Amino acid sequence: MPGIVIVGAQWGDEGKGKITDLLAEQADAVVRFQGGNNAGHTIVRDGETFKFHLIPSGILYPGKWCMIGNGVVVDPKVLCEELDGLRARSMDISGLKLSANAHLIMPYHRLLDEAGEARLGKLEIGTTRRGIGPCYSDKAARLGIRVQDLLDGKILKKKIMAALEPKKLTLRPYERDPRLDLQSMTEEYLTYGHRLEQHIADTTSMTHKLLDDGKPVLFEGAQGTLLDIDHGTYPFVTSSNPVAGAACVGAGVGPKDIDEVWGVTKAYATRVGAGPFPTELDEEVGEGLRQKGGEFGTTTGRARRTGWLDLVALKYASRINGLTHLAVTKLDVLTGQETLKVATRYRGEDEAIFETYPYHQSVLHHAHGEYEELPGWSEDITEARSESDLPQAAREYLDYIADFVGVPVALIGVGPGREQVIWTETPSVTTPVSAS
Ligand code: GDP
Ligand code: IMO
Ligand code: MG
Repeated sequence: MPGIVIVGAQWGDEGKGKITDLLAEQADAVVRFQGGNNAGHTIVRDGETFKFHLIPSGILYPGKWCMIGNGVVVDPKVLCEELDGLRARSMDISGLKLSANAHLIMPYHRLLDEAGEARLGKLEIGTTRRGIGPCYSDKAARLGIRVQDLLDGKILKKKIMAALEPKKLTLRPYERDPRLDLQSMTEEYLTYGHRLEQHIADTTSMTHKLLDDGKPVLFEGAQGTLLDIDHGTYPFVTSSNPVAGAACVGAGVGPKDIDEVWGVTKAYATRVGAGPFPTELDEEVGEGLRQKGGEFGTTTGRARRTGWLDLVALKYASRINGLTHLAVTKLDVLTGQETLKVATRYRGEDEAIFETYPYHQSVLHHAHGEYEELPGWSEDITEARSESDLPQAAREYLDYIADFVGVPVALIGVGPGREQVIWTETPSVTTPVSAS
C-alpha cells in the first residue's frame, strides 16, 4: 500500500509541483493536505507552463484522482478560476475532488490578513495576504465555514454571522466595504457551492479505499519545513504544518499508510517573505542566482531572497519529516559558479557555534552559515539525463549533500521541463509492494 509524501525541505518553492507531477505518473491519486492558495506550484510540460495554487499537481494526467484534502484552506473563488483556466485549455478536470470538511477562506480573512500585516508595519511577516492565517485561526476557534456549508444557504448565512461577530472591532475600518455585506457574501458563496458541488466528496474514504486496494497515493505538501508553524522559524512561518506528519491529519490517514517521504530541496536556498535566513547572500551574488534561477514568487511575483545551501537546516528538515528520499532541484542554476558553498554549521552571537538547528528565535536571528567550499563546474548540464552525464564536481556536490544529510538523492532537476531530470532511484510506486 504505497503512500508517498512529498514535502518542501526548505522555505517553500523547492520545485514540489514538478516532482509531484513526475511521481504522479505512477500513482492513482494525488492529495493536497495543507496550506491554501499561498502555494504556487509550477509544472512545465512540453514547453507549456502550468501554475497551480490549490489544484493538486497530478491534474495534467486525464482522469487521475486529484483531491483537496480536509487540511487545506480553500478560497472557492480561486478554485473556480483555476478550474476555468484548465477548462479553457481543454484539460480534463473530472478527477478533481474537494473534501467537504475543508475550511473556506472568506472575504474577511483576506481583509484581516491585510490589516494584520499593516498593523505589524516594519515587523510584518510578509504573508501572501491570501487570508491563510485568519482562516486557520477561525478553524481553531471553531468559527470556520467549511465546504459542506456551501450547500445550505440558511446554515451558511448563520455561520458567517457568527464568524463575523467577534471580528467587528478589527474590521471596523472596513465597515462600509461591500465585500463584508452579509447578504451578498452569502449569495456569492452559494454560487461557488453550485459550481463546485460536482467535485465535493468524502476524500478521506476515497483515499482509504485506494490505499486498501494497494493503489499508490501521493500526498502533496505545500510551503516548506522551515515555514511550519511548530517547527519553522516562528513567527515568520505560515499557519499550517507543511511537514510530512501533517499528511496524516490533512488527508485522514494513519502513519502506517506512509511508506516513503520525499523531501524536495533546491541545490541552493531561497526564501520569500521576512524571517531568519542564515545563509542569505549579499546583493551581488544573490542577485546573480535570483536572475539565473528566475527566483520570483509564483503566487505574488515578489523577488525571492537567495542563499547558499543550508545543510544544517536540511538535516533538521530530514529528521522532522523522516525523509527517505531527497529530490535536489535546480542544479543547473549553479553552473558557472567557480566555488560552491554549503553551510555545515552556524556561528551566532559572541562567536557561539551551532552544529544543529537552534530552537531559540534570538539565536536564529543572529546565526550565519559557516561554510565548506566545494568546486563548481562550468559545463551546461541541462541535457544531462543520467548521473554519468554530470561533471565530476556536480556529482561530488550531490554526494556531499547526501552524506551530510544521511538521505540518498533519488532525483535531480537540471531544468524546469519535466524531462529535465535525472533519476538515480526508482520510487516504490513503480515496483510491487511485496518486492520492495
Ligand atoms: P513549488 O512551490 O515547490 O512547486 O515550486 P515553484 O513552482 O514555486 O518554484 C519552482 C520554480 O523552479 C518553478 O518555476 C519551476 O518551473 C522551476 N524548476 C523546478 N525544477 C527546476 C530545475 O531543476 N531547474 C530549473 N532551472 N528550474 C526548475
Ligand atoms: P509553495 O507551496 C514560499 C510564506 C510567505 C510568508 C509566510 C507566511 O509554493 O512552496 P502566509 O500567506 O502563508 O500566511 O505567509 O509563508 N509562504 C511561502 N513561501 N512558498 C510558498 O508556497 C509559500 N506559502 C507561504 O511568503 O513568508
Ligand atoms: Mg511555489
